Amino acid sequence: MLLPTETVYGLGADASNPTAVAAIFEAKGRPRFNPLIAHVHDVETAAGIAAFDDRAQALAAAFWPGPLTIVAPVRDTTAVCDLARAGLDTVAIRVPGHPLSRAVLAAFGGPVVAPSANRSGRPSPTTFEDAFAETGDKTAAALDGGPCQVGLESTVVAVLDGPVRLLRPGAVTRAQLEAVVGPLAEADNDAKRSPGRLALHYAPDAPVRIDATAPEAGEAYLAFGPWPDGEGVFNLSPSGDLAEAAANLFAFLRAADRTKPVGIAVAPIPDEGLGEAINDRLRRAAGFVG
Ligand code: TXA
Ligand code: MG
Repeated sequence: MLLPTETVYGLGADASNPTAVAAIFEAKGRPRFNPLIAHVHDVETAAGIAAFDDRAQALAAAFWPGPLTIVAPVRDTTAVCDLARAGLDTVAIRVPGHPLSRAVLAAFGGPVVAPSANRSGRPSPTTFEDAFAETGDKTAAALDGGPCQVGLESTVVAVLDGPVRLLRPGAVTRAQLEAVVGPLAEADNDAKRSPGRLALHYAPDAPVRIDATAPEAGEAYLAFGPWPDGEGVFNLSPSGDLAEAAANLFAFLRAADRTKPVGIAVAPIPDEGLGEAINDRLRRAAGFVG
C-alpha cells in the first residue's frame, strides 16, 4: 500500500508476513541486506517489539508521534520478520505523525514496514503523484495524503550499547536529540549498524552538482535564498528557510530532472539544524557518499 507519512510516502506491508515483505523489496529493487523500518501506532506496541532502555523511552516520549526512527535490540522476531530486519538482531521502529498513516496503523493493529516508496536509489517521493509514478503499479492500494509536510526522511538513531548513534540525519535535528540524550556518537561505516548508508541514494537522472553559487549553461538550478526567477530555476526557499527547503528538496529535484537538463546545480545550504540532513541527501544524490 502507498502510505503517506509526514516525512515521505512509504510503500507499506504487513511486517510479520515474509511474502508481503519480499514483494516490497521486489517492487523497489532494493537489496535484501538493507532492512526496513517498522511503523507502529504507539510506543507500547513499539516497546513490545524492541527492547527500549531509558534513553529510547525518553526519545520516544520527546518525538513520537513524529519523524524519528529508533534502532534497538529486537524482542519479538515474528512481529517484524527476519527478512524485514535483513536478519539483524536489531529492529528499526517509528510511530509516524500523519493522520492517514496513524489511522491505517490503528486499524491494522500490528507493525507495518514501509520504506520510502521510490525505486531503490532514487529520490524519496513527497507527493502522491511522485509516489504513484515510482511504485504505484506495484501496489494494491494507494492513499493520497497530499504533499508531505516535512519532505525529508525520519532521523535514524541506534540506541544500543554505548552512546546513542546517529545513523541517518533527518527531520529531527542533532540539537533536538542532544537536548534529550546528550552528545551523539557518529555513524561508523559498519554495514551491520548502518546498512542503508552504503548504497547510492536519492539520485535523479541528471548529474547533481552541489555547493554551486550559480548554474552553468544547460544546468537547472536549485536556488536557496534570494535569486532571480527564470527558466530552469527552482528556489528551495526564497527566504532562506531550511524547513521550507527540506519540504521542497525531493519534489524540486524531480521537477528539475523532468526538464532534462545537462545537470542539476544546487546552491550551498547552511550545515546547521535541518541543513545537516539536506546536505546529507545532496551529497548522496551527487554521488559523494558511496
Ligand atoms: O521517514 C522515513 O523514515 C520513511 C517513511 C516512509 O517512514 N521511511 C524510510 O525508509 O525512509 P527507508 O527504508 O527508505 O529507510 C530506512 C533506513 C535505511 O537507511 C535502513 O538501512 C535503516 O533505516 N535501517 C532499518 N533497519 C535498521 C537496523 N536494524 N539497523 C540500522 N539501520 C536500519
Ligand atoms: Mg529510502
